[in-house]
Amino acid sequence: MSSCELKESLEVVLNFAKDEKHTVLIVDDEENNLQLLKRTFRGKYNILTATNGVEALDVVNKHGSEISLIVSDQKMPIMEGTDFLKRVRETNPQIVKILLTGHVDTDIIVSAINDCELFQYILKPFEPEELKIAVEKGIEKYSMANNNKVFYKELRELFYKTIRAISNALDTKDSYTNGHSLRVTLYSMILAKELNLDESYMEDIEIAGLLHDIGKIAMPKSILCKNGKLTDEEFLVMKSHPIRGEKIVINIKKLQMISEWVKSHHEKWDGTGYPDGLSGEGIPLAGRIIALADTYDAMTSTRPYRTALSHEVAISEINRCSGTQFDPELAKKFVEIEAKINTARLNPEIEYPKYSFLAKNIDFKVTSEFSNANQ
Ligand SMILES: [Fe+2]
Repeated sequence: MSSCELKESLEVVLNFAKDEKHTVLIVDDEENNLQLLKRTFRGKYNILTATNGVEALDVVNKHGSEISLIVSDQKMPIMEGTDFLKRVRETNPQIVKILLTGHVDTDIIVSAINDCELFQYILKPFEPEELKIAVEKGIEKYSMANNNKVFYKELRELFYKTIRAISNALDTKDSYTNGHSLRVTLYSMILAKELNLDESYMEDIEIAGLLHDIGKIAMPKSILCKNGKLTDEEFLVMKSHPIRGEKIVINIKKLQMISEWVKSHHEKWDGTGYPDGLSGEGIPLAGRIIALADTYDAMTSTRPYRTALSHEVAISEINRCSGTQFDPELAKKFVEIEAKINTARLNPEIEYPKYSFLAKNIDFKVTSEFSNANQ
């Protein structure tokens, strides 16, 4: 993880440690009550006030995202408390609501609890201490619900950033394969989209594509960056990268299924691939997709021992190896969409964000250095 990403992880933790003042909106048409409530909470919360439902809705429209809790009187002119709170539930369901009511009318109370998602009702007259406790509990409820949401979002972002950082480290380990993981991911996503695979599968394909060669991180540079063909012995070491990759990824709970895909990206349709010699549909679909994208990128990129093949030659090679190396259905689809693939190869910085799930969630810049157009 880079120092920049480490800093962001720390910020996540520090943000949660911050004790921010909550904002409470008090709605009551009687000035004396309003002042009493204001005094009860002064200093502890930021207080907003309104003297009727319409005015209060206006406050919620302007400050809804800052308000944690509303204390509203039931009997007010223009709009009753329950009608006001019902509207708040529709626009700002995250706000916790407390209703103050003068008499025990079970119909009003039941409808308030159901229709307004009321947290609590309090009968008037009440002791300030009773209301204080109710508000504290309401604020606790708000904090738990909303901190969990924020925490989950930040954790998810951190997870994506870590995946991105690992794949970047991999792509820059060898200047000849610079951008390889990213391009393989892009071609895999394009093919997966053409196959109408659902969104969560698309997200997993992206993560698997970015990590498919993660096992190479353990390869000695002398083999990985060798300026020439590998010896049999070196090739054997190189061939261990899918299993090494699987071992790295399988330890991360969310990536357990992806570990199978990482392991299978060098299997061949006819069973002559490695590491397990799987064949046909015994190879996970994502493994077959990545295998196609991987081979296409390898062919269209310059290597120390040969220059890049043209897009056209690579496509005819895919056609030729359909049914032996590649799943024939997938190879057919890949050839059908070859124009899209070529556009992506030439302009990854424009095309990647169109398909990417990660780019929608984190700052994920793809620069033209990842294009293999000039290699
Ligand atoms: Fe590989």
